[in-house]
Amino acid sequence: MTQGTPKQAAPQRAEWTGQIGFIISAIGSAVGLGNIWRFPGVAYENGGGAFLIPYIVALLTAGIPILFLDYAIGHRFRGSAPLALRRVAGRLGESLGWFQVMICVFIAIYYTAVLAWAGSYFVFSFDLRWGDDAGGFFQGEFLRVPDDGTLFSMDFVPGVLIALVLMWVVTIVLLGQGVVKGVQRANMIAMPLLVIGFVVLVVRALFLPGAADGLNALFTPDFAALADPGVWVAAYSQIFFSLSVAFGIMMTYASYRKRRSNMTTPGLVVAFANSSFEILAGIGVFATLGFFAHQQGVGIADLEGLTGVGLAFVTFPAIVAEMPGGPFFGMLFFGSLTLAALTSLISILEVVFAGIIDKFGMSRKGAAYGIGGALAVVSILLFGTTTGLIALDTIDKWANEIGIVGSAVVMTVTVLWIRRAGRELSGHLSALSTFKVGRTWLLLVSVLGPIVLGYMLIVTIIDLIQNPYSGYSPGYLLVVGWGSVFAMIAGSAVLTLLPWKRDPSNFVPWPVLEAAGAKARPGAAGNDSTGGAR
Ligand code: ALA
Repeated sequence: MTQGTPKQAAPQRAEWTGQIGFIISAIGSAVGLGNIWRFPGVAYENGGGAFLIPYIVALLTAGIPILFLDYAIGHRFRGSAPLALRRVAGRLGESLGWFQVMICVFIAIYYTAVLAWAGSYFVFSFDLRWGDDAGGFFQGEFLRVPDDGTLFSMDFVPGVLIALVLMWVVTIVLLGQGVVKGVQRANMIAMPLLVIGFVVLVVRALFLPGAADGLNALFTPDFAALADPGVWVAAYSQIFFSLSVAFGIMMTYASYRKRRSNMTTPGLVVAFANSSFEILAGIGVFATLGFFAHQQGVGIADLEGLTGVGLAFVTFPAIVAEMPGGPFFGMLFFGSLTLAALTSLISILEVVFAGIIDKFGMSRKGAAYGIGGALAVVSILLFGTTTGLIALDTIDKWANEIGIVGSAVVMTVTVLWIRRAGRELSGHLSALSTFKVGRTWLLLVSVLGPIVLGYMLIVTIIDLIQNPYSGYSPGYLLVVGWGSVFAMIAGSAVLTLLPWKRDPSNFVPWPVLEAAGAKARPGAAGNDSTGGAR
């Protein structure tokens, strides 16, 4: 099964200093752009208050079960996505692991761009730089999007370029410091600031005139929407992206937990913290939109730009410009967006660096500066130019709806159907955790997961083929959208074929589990008694 021979003893795997460090870092990863700008708009467009039903169903039937699956694989097989999945399911598993790494490569490249915009807008908030034409400022003065329909250009925009370089440098330096001194420390500082800043923002928003109308618009249920399969697809996609599951992040973070660690209970804390933040963001954003509609004397339904890029960088700045104490509100919003995106970006890049370190035996600093530097160059070439916005929108769509959902389907099928590791993984979680998982979990991940997600994937592929996304030209979508997915698959094939620096199978999982009943004997070995490579 393995290529090459062991050349040297595996170094000690980095470990969080404790449960809190892990939980805060995992929440830091989960709470990101998905919560603040994606959720409110998705909920509004998909049935308002009624969307909470598919959202909660998706959380309970797929989000949390697949989060546990990621945790179980990463923790039991102590590795980055390619290493842990190689130990579970051989080369097929490894190639899936590299596919997850490649998803993170693509997401990191555009996520940094949005982080750079958020950081710039935090600074612009001081003097409300966008003036009274937020849309014109964003597309024109800030991004300089060409108005002649040009799809590729090499015209760099200095303002965006500087912010982008700065964000890459900050993230690479933090990750170069390692799991404890870099990732954990950054999260321990950023997350309390984010929570405080965001709670102040939401409370302020609730006191704005018209706030109640905004909340009514968000929470008034349209139950008819529940009959639309698209609404369910939207709920499941939202949960995956937002919880950071099925693309290597939670697997990698779980691999840094000490061997004797409670896994499922912290998982529940992370999942509910993420969803609570998401609903809080919905309340804050819609209370603010209610104020805007009230100012203009229109209904919420008449407002434009209620999702994604438009919501954060056009609608919000326009509102801030009309609000008493606008600069402070703008700083809170863009400061929160910056912190949330930074802590998520750290986790996305950690998947890439951990995979490279595990397979090629590279030093952490070497991976952070070398690989991180190379990704930074690609990101700057793509998003430091005037055509960044269109590429971002397209790659985001394909990476999430094809890449992540596809990865979840292949992971559940490979690990649970082909390799039949379900009992071992549920035994692992239950042996170590206070909240035990059993048949229900197995049923959810191995039956409901592949079927519901497989259906979603097919629906999305057909839709993307039949209806050119966002009206872009089919040729462009073929190159940038489908081309990204093709590049992810090709990259994962090449990386799988390269030889390992250390034999990945020189490893004994712990705790030892009895084959049939999957009963554990955690007392049989101590924290450090790995019996093999760490
Ligand atoms: N989970 C991260 C987000 O919501 C990636 O943005």
